[in-house]
Amino acid sequence: MSNRFAIVLAAGQGTRMKSKLYKVLHSVCGKPMVQHVLDQVSALQVKETVTIVGHGAEKVQAQLGDKCGFALQAEQLGTAHAVMQAESLLQGKQGTTFVICGDTPLIKAETMEALIKQHEAQGAKASVLTAYLEDPTGYGRIIRNKEGFVEKIVEHKDATEAEKLVTEINTGTYCFDNQALFEALKKVSNDNVQGEYYLPDVIEILKSEGEIVTAYQTADFEETLGVNDRIALSEAEKIMRKRINFEHMKNGVTLIDPEQTYIEADVTIGQDTIIYPGTIIKSGTTIGSDCEIGPNTEIAQCEIGDSTAIRQSVAHNSSIGSHVKIGPFAHIRPQSQIADEVKIGNFVEIKKSVFGHGSKASHLSYIGDAEVGSDVNIGCGSITVNYDGKNKFLTKIGDDVFVGCNSNLVAPVSVGDGAYIAAGSTITEDVPGEALAIARARQVNKEDYVSKLNFNK
Ligand code: UD1
Ligand code: MG
Repeated sequence: MSNRFAIVLAAGQGTRMKSKLYKVLHSVCGKPMVQHVLDQVSALQVKETVTIVGHGAEKVQAQLGDKCGFALQAEQLGTAHAVMQAESLLQGKQGTTFVICGDTPLIKAETMEALIKQHEAQGAKASVLTAYLEDPTGYGRIIRNKEGFVEKIVEHKDATEAEKLVTEINTGTYCFDNQALFEALKKVSNDNVQGEYYLPDVIEILKSEGEIVTAYQTADFEETLGVNDRIALSEAEKIMRKRINFEHMKNGVTLIDPEQTYIEADVTIGQDTIIYPGTIIKSGTTIGSDCEIGPNTEIAQCEIGDSTAIRQSVAHNSSIGSHVKIGPFAHIRPQSQIADEVKIGNFVEIKKSVFGHGSKASHLSYIGDAEVGSDVNIGCGSITVNYDGKNKFLTKIGDDVFVGCNSNLVAPVSVGDGAYIAAGSTITEDVPGEALAIARARQVNKEDYVSKLNFNK
């Protein structure tokens, strides 16, 4: 296998997106398009990858980190001009250079691999990945000669009426002999409708010099979608979503209705977990096996154990143990640690709190900035009063504590192991372990009071 290099084109503004965000940073299933491309390229045993940045260069670089090198294209004069910017890094090196656009997030590593294999097997100087589309509008067209060999690529805007009828399109993914690429780029002109230096012109240049140029057609036209506007972005999202959902189902996850299940990239789900419709699971989430998630549940960046049920609820940036029951209508806010066998019931909000093994908050509670021990019962309507309008304070609740209904625990405060808090108490002082704390006014009954009133008389 010869040395492999890759160039990812990511310098364009993406005018047609009509967005403040640079095109290649728009996400498809929770991951920026250019990151999808880089992740696929990294599966190809590439020796050196150079991403061409321009618009939003710092933001694109921050996204990709040190996984690749960067070359700046200060002015966006076209895709050939973009590739030229990698010259100082790759010029003179022997091997195959792979060029791919940062706005084609669906192209798979295996398809790129097949393109390279054919390119190398045929000793080609250039190979282009093509596809047949029912509606080729907007794409560059592959023009073949009478013998069926690729002659050139014509951009939609430059195409004659006859050329526009061609349904084989340029996916924007190519392989080149590295040295031949940089030689040919010098000959590309900008004599076209858009006044740009087109990378596809390299194909015609090499062909006219008698070099071998090939095309590899992928049967999966869905892979080739180039995202230039929000309509294509939504199409890419739909295709990627289907791909992700199928992968989970193949791994043993049940999706009751895959069309209404929104699982982003980089989510892990264990076998025999069932996901109900209307569920959104965002990138960076791990869910164990035998869980039941949804319906209508949103989970982001959480780590969830096995056999846990989360119904009609929202959970963000938290860890949730095994055999836990959450919801319906619960909210687990960031930095919470929910231990095994916990129950968080309806209308309960947990924020930045540790909630110990086997503890329960079954209804209508707010637990914020708290450390709750194991086997604690938080009665209906009880809350931690963690905020004085300026600062947040900690509530510490030991093991085996019973917090009666509708209690306020005014932080900073701590309740010792095994303590009881009487219903309706407002606790402002620490409660020792095993103690009963009652902090409410005594009840007064005024006998015969009602008969002394002169209502309606
Ligand atoms: C390009 C191809 C077209 C192909 C289509 C596939 C050219 C001239 N046309 O068209 O044949 O069918 O992709 O999706 O190449 N970029 C730069 N610098 C520039 C210009 C573009 O880095 O100066 C980057 C963009 O950020 C983008 C990629 O190159 O990621 C492609 O540019 P775009 O403007 O989307 O080209 P298309 O019109 O889609
Ligand atoms: Mg494009």
